[in-house]
Order: sequence, then C-alpha cells, then structure tokens
Amino acid sequence: MSLLLTNIKQLIQVEDSPNRYKAGEEMKKLSVIENAFLYIDEGKIDDYGLMDDLDYDQFAEADVLEEINCSGKLVCPSYCDSHTHIVYPSSREKEFVDKINGLSYEEIARRGGGILNSAKLLHETSEDELFDQAFERAIEIAGLGTGAAEIKSGYGLNTEDEMKMLRVIRRLKYETPLTIKSTFLGAHAIPMEYKADQTKYVDLVINEMIPQVAGEGLADYIDVFCDKGFFTVEDTDRILMTGMKYGLKPKIHANELGLTGGIQVGVKYGALSVDHLEFVGDEEIAVLKGSETMPTILPGAAFFLGMQLSPARKMMEAGLPVALASDYNPGSSPSGNMKFVQSLGCIKYKMLPEEVINATTINTAYAMGVDECLGTITRGKKANVFITKEVSCYEFLPYAYGSDLIDTVILNGEVI
Ligand code: NIG
Ligand code: FE
Repeated sequence: MSLLLTNIKQLIQVEDSPNRYKAGEEMKKLSVIENAFLYIDEGKIDDYGLMDDLDYDQFAEADVLEEINCSGKLVCPSYCDSHTHIVYPSSREKEFVDKINGLSYEEIARRGGGILNSAKLLHETSEDELFDQAFERAIEIAGLGTGAAEIKSGYGLNTEDEMKMLRVIRRLKYETPLTIKSTFLGAHAIPMEYKADQTKYVDLVINEMIPQVAGEGLADYIDVFCDKGFFTVEDTDRILMTGMKYGLKPKIHANELGLTGGIQVGVKYGALSVDHLEFVGDEEIAVLKGSETMPTILPGAAFFLGMQLSPARKMMEAGLPVALASDYNPGSSPSGNMKFVQSLGCIKYKMLPEEVINATTINTAYAMGVDECLGTITRGKKANVFITKEVSCYEFLPYAYGSDLIDTVILNGEVI
C-alpha cells in the first residue's frame, strides 16, 4: 500500500539527516518545503520534494497508489507526546472544584485525594474496563495529531495493581496505531499505610515491584515523582539505581514543587528526560548542559494548576534543548491536546512557533527514545503524519489555539 500526498502547501520539519534533537538557537530553525509532495510506501516515508520535481513514473511499481490532494493544506510529522498518564480509572472533576475553591494540589494530596484517590479507584476497576477507558483516550489523542505516546503506570501503588496498569499499556501497544513506550512509576505517591514509614514503601518498589516488572518485560523506562512532599532525592537515588540494574532507563518527574535536587539525581543516572521543571536555577541549567538528558516542560499542568512557569527561554538561551509534552492525567492536566500545548508554549512561555514545533516533535521523540524512527519528515522514518485543514501557514496552528485544524491522520502509512 502506498500513498502519494500532492500539492502540499507546506511540508513541515523536513530533515534529510536529522540530529537526535535540536538545542538552543537551532530550535528556531524549521525546515519547510513549499508546494511539496510526500510519498509513503509500506508504512515508511519513502520520498519527498518539490511538486515541480515529482515524476509519477517513479511510482509505477507500487501495489496500490492512492493520491491525496493536499492543496492549501500543511503536512506535519505527528506529535510525539513523551509524558502521559492516560491509563487511569476515571476523571477527578470534584478536585477541580476543590481547587477553584482554593485548595492547592499538595493540600488535596495530603487529604488522601489526588493520586491516592485514583489508586483507590483503580484497585476497584477491572483490567478490561481500565483498558477500554485508556483505549478511548489513546484514540482521542491520535485524532488530535499525536502519533506516539509514553504512558506511565503509577496509579497502582502496590505490585499487583502496578502490573495491571502495565499490562493495559502493553495491550495499547498492540491494539492502537500509536507508537507507545511504557514507564513504571511505582514511586508516584506514598500510599496512606506507608505514610509513617516512607522507606518501607521504597523498599517494596525496589525489592518486589522492579524485579517483577522487569522480569515480565512490562516497562521500557522507570520514573519517580521526586519532589517536595513526595519522594526524596535519597529515595530516588535508590530506586533509579535498582531500575538501572534491571535495564530500566530513568525518565523522571522533577522540580515541579521546588528546587529539590531532582534534576541532579536524574542526570546522575543518565535520565532520558527530566520533566515538569517549574523550578530551575543556574545550578540545574549547568548540570543539564553537561548531559544528554532532555529538559521537558509540561505546560498543561502548569496552566491547569496555576503554577509558576518553567524558564524555557533561559534554558534555550543557555544552549539547552527543550521538549513540551502534555502530561495527560486526571489530576493536573486532563488534556492530551498537543496543539494546545504548542499554543501554551507560544503564549505563556514566549516560545516561537518554530521552537514549539521542534519541542513537540523531534525533541519529544528523543525524550521517549523513538527519535530514530519518528519526529521528523525523513526518508526511512515511520510514516506518522497529519494533514491540516486549509490554513495560511504553520504559524497559524499555535495561533488558532482553540480550533481543530486536523483534517487527516496517517499513522504507520495508513489513513485512520
Ligand atoms: O505529572 N506530578 C505528578 N504526577 C502527575 C499528576 C498525577 C495526578 O494528579 O493524578 C503529574 O502532574
Ligand atoms: Fe506526570
């Protein structure tokens, strides 16, 4: 099966031989072909170029050649959403109202709400029901232009329920068209019964959960919510060290609630990414500078919780890369709309349209370990792209923050 997209107004993020990510000044650069074609064969990007150079004879051998006329429309690489929690038992709009009435995220958590509330519900929800709900969210984000997602466990908080979540993620890998990476987040919150002895819970994560999760090959990565009121740097150090022994690379929650040392411990263990980053000082920037760890901002969570903003510009001016992901979860970011994340990047963080496109494609592909096959329009990469409705140019996408501008989604070379 092959697809030929013709008369594309702008083909976005074309890279013949891309770097693994874009950093600093490079983030301002976006390679675009005006009036382009894109040829997709056997699920991969096969060729692209100017319409003027299109030679139909070149494609005579293809099995089935379907042509899609993209006149007036843009073609973009699908978003890679490198941080989500889309496996959860149900929404938490009651806490939303509590927050409107003045309670903070930490206060809600201390009362046994928040993550612990989701964990209780998850325990009572069957694996099939959990899958059905998560499946719906996966299809929802695919329709919003996301082609790859990292999904975390972390609403189980005991071995059996964490495994249940990870099995659901494994099923999503096979039963949805998304490219999915799975992250074990047993250290997401401290269950009530361990509040008096947090170390005992960390012991459980280390001695029981990690060996079982890794033993069944259920996770690609390991995460810890290393922050004020959650897991300490010492806890994180122990958990990441054990995870590494079992072949689980870290990708951690850090510096959402304070300058806690989360970034430092993540970098120490070669984390693929450190995520949230509302609190970043000169020391954290210096540590990230010497690393291969992707600083990842989650604008949806900062927006929803009204938190201070991560210093995106300062990090980019220091030459760092920045990635933007959705953090889709029931408590702090009940949306997986990556186009809206781009808009927040522009409006709240003063990032340029080129920077937010790089931050949600090539840089998030790196942050979830799929940069070799996704994140740019490159020959040989997986054909995950979307065609927009008729629009003026790529700057219009983050500008029109509330409009659905996606016309057609193509994943693995097939229109879905
Ligand atoms: O990334 N910060 C920690 N965990 C999630 C929130 C999860 C929840 O509240 O359910 C986050 O924001
Ligand atoms: Fe998160």
